[in-house]
Amino acid sequence: MVSYKELGLVNTREMFKKAVAGGYAIPAFNFNNMEQLQAIIQASAETKSPVILQVSKGARNYANQTLLRYMAEGAVEYAKELGWEHPQIVLHLDHGDSFELCKSCVDMGFSSVMIDASSLPYEENIALTKKVVDYAHQYDVTVEAELGVLAGVEDEVSAEESHYTRPEEVIDFATRTGCDSLAISIGTSHGAYKFKPEQCTRDPKTGRLVPPPLAFNVLHEIEKKLPGFPIVLHGSSSVPQEYVDIINAHGGKLPDAVGIPEEQLREAAKSAVCKINIDSDSRLAMTAAIRKVFDEKPGEFDPRKYLGPARDEMKKLYMHKIVNVLGSDGKAE
Ligand code: G3H
Ligand code: 13P
Ligand code: ZN
Repeated sequence: MVSYKELGLVNTREMFKKAVAGGYAIPAFNFNNMEQLQAIIQASAETKSPVILQVSKGARNYANQTLLRYMAEGAVEYAKELGWEHPQIVLHLDHGDSFELCKSCVDMGFSSVMIDASSLPYEENIALTKKVVDYAHQYDVTVEAELGVLAGVEDEVSAEESHYTRPEEVIDFATRTGCDSLAISIGTSHGAYKFKPEQCTRDPKTGRLVPPPLAFNVLHEIEKKLPGFPIVLHGSSSVPQEYVDIINAHGGKLPDAVGIPEEQLREAAKSAVCKINIDSDSRLAMTAAIRKVFDEKPGEFDPRKYLGPARDEMKKLYMHKIVNVLGSDGKAE
């Protein structure tokens, strides 16, 4: 058993309280490898932004749980080395799907876990979430839960259809589970294809898809029911079209990839939404940079020569999100 406190990490409690009061959101960036982690820490340290390092079940299987935990510990030291005196870094399990997985992460130094029982019937979601909360809170680890279903793939759970979170359920759910934050469904979804072309209109000038707006009315209803309660948005990549274009121009094939417009995320960040999850955009930045090198320099085979540019591109992306979308820069001086 190792406590996250020994690793220099923090939980989300204070971070979220300040973010809700301050009208900004904390970035939750997924990572699976060293270059992503370096880019996240460089961007957070440079902007003095609190940050949530997210590890999915898939990432844990891919990278090895022990290695990931030491990488997070190393991230704290690296942040200090970069001149960030008091780094505020959370290590968070993304989409935990069982009590055992959440417990194992708590026991291995995570400071926050998500139990995603949103695909279960309501009462079962409550029971499982409460079980995780009861365990995690003994160690001062914060817990994110989810109510409502996002369309698309949630790790190994795939949902054909989304249904928005029902505002009439949130008080009962938050009270009975004791969760610290709540992920809601208001029209975001995972991946680089958040909407089908038939759900969108098309910009006649550019030919690009224009997605339908998020259900801000549902968000506002939820905020009224739970004033000041930390709300989380998953599936919040904006799928930058410049990356899609670079990928497609260098041998890739991502037709009609579409995300959540950044103005809408900026709007959400001003509300009780205090954690915004971004994974796909980093994947796109990385893939665009690597494809470009592979295409333009077919003789290149030193991984640093393509992973280096990929890391730089991800850092640029993370800084942009922090400063221009979430507004969390300077909030962890
Ligand atoms: O919500 C899902 C995250 O983007 C993680 O994706 O399960 O492929 O690691 P993954
Ligand atoms: P994106 O696929 O939109 O990046 O969402 C990531 C996410 O919600 C991770 O939990
Ligand atoms: Zn998610």
